[in-house]
Amino acid sequence: MDPVTASLEAVLQRHAAVPPQGVVADYIPELACADPDDFAVAMASVHGSVYRAGDHECEFTIQSVSKPFVYALALADLGLDEVAKHVGFEPSGEPFNAISLEPGTGRPANPLINAGAIVTTSLIPGDAEQSFERIRAGLSAFAGRELELDEAVYRSEAATGDRNRALGFLTLSQGVLARPAEEACDIYFRQCSLLVTVADLAVMAGTLARGGVNPLTMTAVVDPEVAKIALSVMATCGMYDRSGEWMVRVGLPAKSGVGGGIAAVLPGEFGLGVYSPPLDAQGNSVRAMAVLQEMSSRLGLHVFAPPAGSRSPIAASEVVDDTLTVRLRGELDFITAEQVSNHLLEQVLTRGIKRIDVDITHVTTVRAVAAELLRAVGIELRRHGLELMIEPPERIAAAAARVQQAPSVPFIGGPFATEPSAGRPSAAQPSAAQPPG
Ligand code: DON
Repeated sequence: MDPVTASLEAVLQRHAAVPPQGVVADYIPELACADPDDFAVAMASVHGSVYRAGDHECEFTIQSVSKPFVYALALADLGLDEVAKHVGFEPSGEPFNAISLEPGTGRPANPLINAGAIVTTSLIPGDAEQSFERIRAGLSAFAGRELELDEAVYRSEAATGDRNRALGFLTLSQGVLARPAEEACDIYFRQCSLLVTVADLAVMAGTLARGGVNPLTMTAVVDPEVAKIALSVMATCGMYDRSGEWMVRVGLPAKSGVGGGIAAVLPGEFGLGVYSPPLDAQGNSVRAMAVLQEMSSRLGLHVFAPPAGSRSPIAASEVVDDTLTVRLRGELDFITAEQVSNHLLEQVLTRGIKRIDVDITHVTTVRAVAAELLRAVGIELRRHGLELMIEPPERIAAAAARVQQAPSVPFIGGPFATEPSAGRPSAAQPSAAQPPG
């Protein structure tokens, strides 16, 4: 057994020894058929390795874990400005099925509570069949395999989904739902009833970890900007009224579903899927949360924990005659580029150098902030009569271009700011009840 799988097995065994707490969801009657003892975990690295442990062949319905991925599809199809007219980004601190809309705009607070998810689903272009097929195919692209509908769960959810229909009609009355309420809910029920395994959740999460590129198929499912926004709402809203505690204790963007699955992401590294049907009062899998909390604290996965120790980007540095040659490695971000900057300026000032060659062939990533800093170093060196030669120059140029192209997003008073207006929802467009596209 490979060491990653072995350590996933070990975590599962530790948690399987504790009797499961919580209760399997039964408000959708078909979900009550799940075996409370099923327990599985999977990890998908951004390099495309998938590791599985426990009952990883079990299929279960994706439920609310679908929400950030459908939000990503809506962003990809319509853009943030349009989507933000219909659904906000703020944590609601309320239960997943809360009947609440943002005062002033009539928008649901975020796309991960049911009201916001139904609105998000309603935005996916096409008639009902085309829209559901776009969702099914899009979620399949995130998972790297074709996902299928669990007809029994769909029928059960459709038969008992009156609260969601109420949310559909409420959002329609506010002008933020983009298609008839019954139709939007029906597509949403089907979306929630897609069958996944724990490995599918890991690969879907891994796709967000890799900036929207599925690490197995290498398909660009959404662009990196969209993946970043999806992760942002997962970090702030993914666990409903436990989202704040989740970020404090676990610190990974995540999304739970009442089917018992949770997908979690360590950006740039891997996606995780965990499955165990018994839920807490908030509708989050108790064991899946415990597994993720243990992994985060034992393995130091919290996104806000700074990496221990320092990384040196300088693999070699030598002065021959009056030429300084520096070979760099690894990732160039601010902190490594700062070391390069200090090194170059110090060498130039103390060693009578006439020429500087920097080799970045073995650099894995050049972040925009590093390109900006190296550009400033080049200007400073020119003041000393020296030219900074970076080989190959295209990589710095590409990162520098990202600095130039980055949109400046107005924050306060910009297009995303909501203007409270006397009772009239600002999102109400004359065409808002029509399906876009
Ligand atoms: O809308 C519902 O009630 C379900 N289809 C999904 C809810 C859900 O998964 C909440 N998450 N924990």
